Amino acid sequence: MKNATATAAKKTTTAKTPATKTTAAKSTAAKSTAAKTTATKSKTASKSTSSKGIVKAKSSAADGLRELFVDSLKDIYWAEKALTKALPKMAKNATSENLIAAINDHLTVTQNQVTRLEQVFEIVGEKAQAKKCDAMEGLIKEGESIIEETEAGPVRDAGIIAASQKIEHYEIATYGTLCAFAKTLGENDAMELLAATLAEEKEADVTLTEAAYNTINFDAAEADEK
Ligand SMILES: [Fe+2]
Ligand SMILES: [Fe+2]
Repeated sequence: MKNATATAAKKTTTAKTPATKTTAAKSTAAKSTAAKTTATKSKTASKSTSSKGIVKAKSSAADGLRELFVDSLKDIYWAEKALTKALPKMAKNATSENLIAAINDHLTVTQNQVTRLEQVFEIVGEKAQAKKCDAMEGLIKEGESIIEETEAGPVRDAGIIAASQKIEHYEIATYGTLCAFAKTLGENDAMELLAATLAEEKEADVTLTEAAYNTINFDAAEADEK
């Protein structure tokens, strides 16, 4: 009996050994992968970031406020143009008459804002050029996902309002900054045009909030309860 127990114990030990080896081998592999990753990371870091986390600028980087202002104009020019394509999709997928009207109204406003930006470019003596705005691309994609993830009706409408308000808030932040930049640069005519757009974005945000509080979110909550 003793022998049998001893053998069993031996077997258990033997059985454990390869597993331990495997674990050890895995851990060595993991260590070497980690070391490689660290090496790669530090290589990348040395390219654009110093050891203190300070990012080195690209050779094309803006070296003055005017350049940063023009870059931001190009960014929002791309965003407004992208919105002229995204808004009709949102309107098509909305159900509430109020919401559809609000989106279509803002589409016309947005088309005018594109033209207004072209005037701003002209005033500051720059060519109207669009530069891809990663933030707006993401916000539009988020709106599309909300539509895909909801059934048509009040819940989808509530989702469309939520996505639209994120877009309006991004625009409000952008135009607020652009106004401040224009003022600092003494571009008063450009500032007036940018301030007109800023006011429109704020108005759109209020309209969406009213739509949400007055009808849509209330209906959406009711639909959830059913
Ligand atoms: Fe806009
Ligand atoms: Fe807007």
